Amino acid sequence: MAAATPTSYTDKVIVSDEVAEFSPEIIAEMNEHLAKYPPERKRSALIPILMLIIQRERGWVDNAGVNFLAKFLDLEVTDIWETATFYSMFNLRPVGRHHIQICKTLSCKIMGEPEITEHICSKLGIHPGETTEDGKFTVSLVECLGSCGTAPMMQIGYDFHEDLTIETVDQILDSLR
Ligand code: FES
Repeated sequence: MAAATPTSYTDKVIVSDEVAEFSPEIIAEMNEHLAKYPPERKRSALIPILMLIIQRERGWVDNAGVNFLAKFLDLEVTDIWETATFYSMFNLRPVGRHHIQICKTLSCKIMGEPEITEHICSKLGIHPGETTEDGKFTVSLVECLGSCGTAPMMQIGYDFHEDLTIETVDQILDSLR
């Protein structure tokens, strides 16, 4: 049975004034990214810090993390949210240990995405946008991941799995259980 999660990662964002705190080591890591860009171009560090540090440390892009980053980069919180809500690589809700992102765009759709999605969801007992009750798996449908020549494909964590068949999907899921 699925945990109660929204069907979309871009629907409602709960806003509060809470600001996340990070250790000196993590702040130093953020400054390393910042140092790659001219001082007047702090905004350029938005995606690396949001992706590689805020999401990693917080588990997802949450309000407190966004508030911190807005202050850190001298940006408005809306600057952060307009980026975070645009790219599917940012999780706007907590996700399971294994975040399965299935490409639903044309090449993958033609090459069997609907059957792959149906198989994965029925095997895990959840719908797209949901997380299994044990917190192990989240399934999301996302737009083109840039691997159209090896469709159908999906991304789990940072790994691409391509030329998917029902058999290879079973092997992949079994290896993650
Ligand atoms: S259409 Fe699926 S990777 Fe491009």
